[in-house]
Amino acid sequence: MRTHYCGRINETLIGKEVTVAGWVHRRRDHGGVIFVDLRDREGLLQVVFDPDRREVFAAAEKVRGEYVLSVTGSVRKRPAGTANPALASGQVEILAQKLDVLNESETPPFHHEEQAHEELRLRFRYLDLRREPMLERLRLRHRVTTALRRYLDAQGFIDIETPMLTRATPEGARDYLVPSRTHPGRFFALPQSPQLFKQLLMMAGMDRYYQIVRCFRDEDLRADRQPEFTQLDVETSFLDEDGIMSIMEAMIRDLFREVLDVELPEPFPRMRYHDALDRYGTDKPDLRIPLRLVEVGDLMGKVDFKVFAGPAKDAAGRVAALTLPGGSALTRKEIDDYTAFVGRYEAKGLAYIKVNDASQGREGLQSPILKFLPDDVINALLERTGARTGDLIFFGADRSSVVNDALGALRAKLGEDRGLIVAGWQPLWVVDYPMFEWNERERRWSPLHHPFTAPNVDDVSAIAAAPGEAMSRAYDMVLNGTEIGGGSVRIHDRAMQSAVFRILQISETEAEEKFGFLLEALKYGCPPHGGIAFGLDRLVMLMAGADSIREVIAFPKTQTASCPLTNAPGTVPEAQLRELGIRVRREAAAASR
Ligand code: AMO
Ligand code: AMP
Repeated sequence: MRTHYCGRINETLIGKEVTVAGWVHRRRDHGGVIFVDLRDREGLLQVVFDPDRREVFAAAEKVRGEYVLSVTGSVRKRPAGTANPALASGQVEILAQKLDVLNESETPPFHHEEQAHEELRLRFRYLDLRREPMLERLRLRHRVTTALRRYLDAQGFIDIETPMLTRATPEGARDYLVPSRTHPGRFFALPQSPQLFKQLLMMAGMDRYYQIVRCFRDEDLRADRQPEFTQLDVETSFLDEDGIMSIMEAMIRDLFREVLDVELPEPFPRMRYHDALDRYGTDKPDLRIPLRLVEVGDLMGKVDFKVFAGPAKDAAGRVAALTLPGGSALTRKEIDDYTAFVGRYEAKGLAYIKVNDASQGREGLQSPILKFLPDDVINALLERTGARTGDLIFFGADRSSVVNDALGALRAKLGEDRGLIVAGWQPLWVVDYPMFEWNERERRWSPLHHPFTAPNVDDVSAIAAAPGEAMSRAYDMVLNGTEIGGGSVRIHDRAMQSAVFRILQISETEAEEKFGFLLEALKYGCPPHGGIAFGLDRLVMLMAGADSIREVIAFPKTQTASCPLTNAPGTVPEAQLRELGIRVRREAAAASR
């Protein structure tokens, strides 16, 4: 049906006869001559229909946008002044001798060049994917997975598949369940990750495993979260954290060099978890933004302002400052908007000081809280924050977690709003995580990673005696403020694994029921092992410069975890439910209608 791709026709083919096939991108009538820009995967080609060839010309007159054509013609140089340097085929055109309309098209619901609403784009995703930026993103994704596979193969990693129909895997989200027909009343869970299977593969002696694998998590969705997403999942044996991190970091450097021609730093900087929270309010800091949180709690303990003095004196509280260079020009309205913004993170206010003239001390400042602050505190504040004339200092005072979330998010927002982001790539490792964090609501410890992450000491009783002090052997990779990967060295000792379950209040019966197979496998010669999983969608999103992972997934779900194209999730016939031993509660059916 064709001899060449449209986008591959160029000057080397001048004088040759070619046959191309593709979609009508645009059709123009120019004083008796018809021009069709024909589009295929490789690009556009200008096809000229001359009225001298009456039959072909008449057929071309009936052609409309998105018709599928096959055209045979001769390649010629475009007349002087009509070349289009933006196209690979821009120096040439073909003069049509034969035209086959392979299929017609109704007028599509949106045109290629317009920015349609996302719901409409997802409803007609196959049309949306015809747009060049979408095609480019999927191609980039292909180049990324190809480069990763090549690297991992060269390093001796074996690609092994693990089950999709399995038991609950503990990554902390809700499971997607699949009912079993052969075992009525029982359910498979789709994997939240292949975590336990990859550990079993290490116990099986595979030594180096990887998989590009779909994972399923029923959780609140955001721009960088989908209910089904793809991990590059890796596990190795007989390597410690430095060994694993150095192979994985080299892989990411290799990927960026090969696909984007970008040199990332060697080695990636490492930051301790607590330092990340202290300086940036988050464990995934965007280091492209040159702003930092500064601790001021020690200055505020004695001030006559309860909002500050309270958290300053509370061990679980924090008072921190964030200086915005040039911020004294912010209007009242802008400050109110930022106050409302931090309110989303439960901050009860956003105190500030405008530094109108740093040389005048108190007289040069403007702030609703100035009256509460004695001179020595003001001087110390100015010195510690380094605020200069024209700057503005924001304050957060509350429980540490609220201050961190609020000022961390404010820092990212200011970076964006005020154009402070320094272009480039800023990867880093975040290390030295605590093993557990205290969940006040449930009044129990929960793991910062997952329950199979090894602590950094081997003494089981020490961990049990002071869970809050135990540090783990986990590491996260962060790129430009997005967590792109996370992993750890695993527990390979049965007593330690049981102790960790106990701290997490997973009873012996529950551990046996859920993870019995893992505990059993730990009895039969488990090698020291560890690994990591990267969020492939997130990695490709960053490399593509897209602002949502939906832009780099061919058929993503909406924010409410549904698919406007297929209308999934759907209802199923009563008979099918009966076969599975399932009855849908009437309220549930009504609610989802
Ligand atoms: P974790 O839960 O940190 O670790 O997941 C690894 C990486 O997967 C990405 N990710 C997601 N991407 C899109 N949508 C989601 N809903 C989503 N959830 C996670 C993130 C994250 O860094 N088994 C462990 C890994 C290990 O210990 O080896 C795990 O799954 O980029
Ligand atoms: P108020 O005394 O409530 O009028 O607050 C005085 C200033 O402190 C206002 O600018 C508030 O936005 C700010 N503020 C109130 N609560 C907090 C808080 N928890 N953290 C930071 N600033 C606050």
